[in-house]
Amino acid sequence: MSGKVLLVGDGAVGSNFANDLLQTTRVDELVICDLNKDRAAGDCLDLEDLTYFTGQTKLRAGDYSDAADADVVVITAGVPRKPGESRLDLIKKNEAILRSIVDPIVASGFSGIFVVSANPVDILTTLTQKLSGFPKKRVIGTGTSLDSARLRVELAKRLQVPIESVNAWVLGEHGDSSFENFSSAVVNGKPLLDYPGMTKEALDEIEAHVREKGGEIIGKKGATYYGVAMMLAKIVAAILENNDLALPLSAPLHGEYGIKDEIYLGTLAIINGQGISHVLELPLNDSELAKMQASAATMKATLDSLE
Ligand code: 2OP
Repeated sequence: MSGKVLLVGDGAVGSNFANDLLQTTRVDELVICDLNKDRAAGDCLDLEDLTYFTGQTKLRAGDYSDAADADVVVITAGVPRKPGESRLDLIKKNEAILRSIVDPIVASGFSGIFVVSANPVDILTTLTQKLSGFPKKRVIGTGTSLDSARLRVELAKRLQVPIESVNAWVLGEHGDSSFENFSSAVVNGKPLLDYPGMTKEALDEIEAHVREKGGEIIGKKGATYYGVAMMLAKIVAAILENNDLALPLSAPLHGEYGIKDEIYLGTLAIINGQGISHVLELPLNDSELAKMQASAATMKATLDSLE
C-alpha cells in the first residue's frame, strides 16, 4: 500500500516531514494544508521537483475536506515554543488550534489514522482522540521518539559506538517529566548500566542533557525540526507499509505501568496499517516506575485543568 497523506501545518516541522517522507517512502498523494495557502502551494511546487528523484507522487495544496479519503492525517500545526517556554505553556493556544482542525477533518468523513506532533504532544494526542471519538488505536503521537533518538545519539557519542548498537528508551511525557529507562538500555548486547563510567552522576547528566536538548536548540536557532520531522516520516511509513514498527510513542495506556488514567503517554508501542497494534510495557525499576506514574499524574492534572 502507498496511500494518501494529508499534512496539516506547513511550518518547519511540516515541510521537513514532507521532504523526508518523499525521500524515504512511496506515497501516492500528499496534500498540504496550511492557513498560509501560498506557502502550502509553493512548498508543493518545490517538493514536486524532488519527485524527479523519488518517484511520482501527486502533490497539491488542499484543505480539511481532503481528509475524506486520506489514509493518514499528520497534525504539526500549532504555535511552537519560544525560548524559555515549556511545552505545557503552549496548551491553551494549541488546544484551540487543534479543535479547529479535528472537527472539520472528522466532518469530512475521514476514517484513517491521526498522527500528532504539535506540543504538548501527549496532551494534544489525548485531545485528538477525545475530540474525534476515534478508536484509540487510530490516534498516535510522536511522544518520546525524539527524546529516545537524542538519548541514543548521546550514548553513542559517550561510549564511542555506532548509534545502531544502542537500544535505549526515554518514556513518559515528551516534556519536563520525561525520564530515561536506563535499566532496560542495552549497548551491543550488554546492559548499559554494566559499562564503566555509568555512575549516578553520569546518568543524571545524560538525562538532563537529553531533556534540555530541545530547549537548547530553540535557544540557539529558534526551533527544532529535523529530528521530529524524520520521526513523523518513520511513523507514516510504518502505517502505509503496514510494517509493525516498534517505537517509543505517545500511545493510549490501559493499566500498563499501573496507570489507571485513560491518557496517552510515551511508551514503546508497535504500529502498523491499523495504527497502534499494541503497547509494549518495558520493564522498569522502582524509581523509573515512580517517574512514569508521576509523569502520568502531571498529564492527568493538565487534562483535568482544561475540562
Ligand atoms: C523538541 O523537543 C520542541 O518538542 C520539541 O525538539
